[in-house]
Amino acid sequence: MQLYLDTANINEIREAASWGVLSGVTTNPTLIAKEKGVDFRQVITEIAELVNGPISAETVSLDADGMVKEGVEYAAWHPNVIVKVPSTTEGLKAVYELAKKDIRCNVTLCFNAAQALMAARAGAFIISPFIGRVDDTGVDGMSLIREISAVYRQDPEISTKILAASIRHPRHIIDSAIAGADIATCPFKVLQQSMRHPLTDRGIEQFLADWRGRA
Ligand code: G3P
Repeated sequence: MQLYLDTANINEIREAASWGVLSGVTTNPTLIAKEKGVDFRQVITEIAELVNGPISAETVSLDADGMVKEGVEYAAWHPNVIVKVPSTTEGLKAVYELAKKDIRCNVTLCFNAAQALMAARAGAFIISPFIGRVDDTGVDGMSLIREISAVYRQDPEISTKILAASIRHPRHIIDSAIAGADIATCPFKVLQQSMRHPLTDRGIEQFLADWRGRA
C-alpha cells in the first residue's frame, strides 16, 4: 500500500519526502485554507516539484461544467495533478468528461460502496472513502474499505485505486492496508506517530549507554 501525505504544508511535505516514504499528496479546500495567504496554483505546483507522484487538487464548483473547467485548468499546471471532485452525480459527469480528455480524477467524500462503484464506472482514477469521518458517526469506517475492495475485486474492468482518507491514527493505516486499500493519505502527525515506539527509544538509550560504558 502506498502512502500519501494529506496536507498543503510545504515544510511537512519536504520533511516526509526526505524519509523516502511519499508516493503522492492530497489536498482539499480546508487544507489549502489552513496555509494562510498561499496561492492555490503556486502551492500545487510547488508540491508537484517536491513529490514525484499524484497530487490531488480539489474543485469547488457544484456543477459538472464548472468542475470540468477547473479540472482542465488544474491539470495544465503539472502532469501529476489529479482533479478531485465530490461523490455526487455532477461529480460523476465531470469524471466522465475529464477521463475523455485523459485527465485523472480522485472522487472524494465517499461514504458508501455504491458511490465507489459509480465513481469507478464513470472512470475515476482514485476513490477516497473517509474512514475517520465514518468512525465519528459510530459506524466502523474500515468496513467501508473492505466493502469497496470486495466490490472492485469482483469486477475485472475496474482499475480505480482505493485511497483511505480521513486517517486519524497509525492503526487506521495498517487496517486500511489489510482491508484492501491501495493508498492511505495521512496527516503528517500520523506519519510521525507511526514511527514512534517507547521500546525503540528505550532500546536506543540502552545501546548508547552500553556503548559508552564498554571496556
Ligand atoms: O483530504 C481528505 C480527508 O483525508 C480529510 O480528513 O481528517 O478532515 O476527516 P479529515
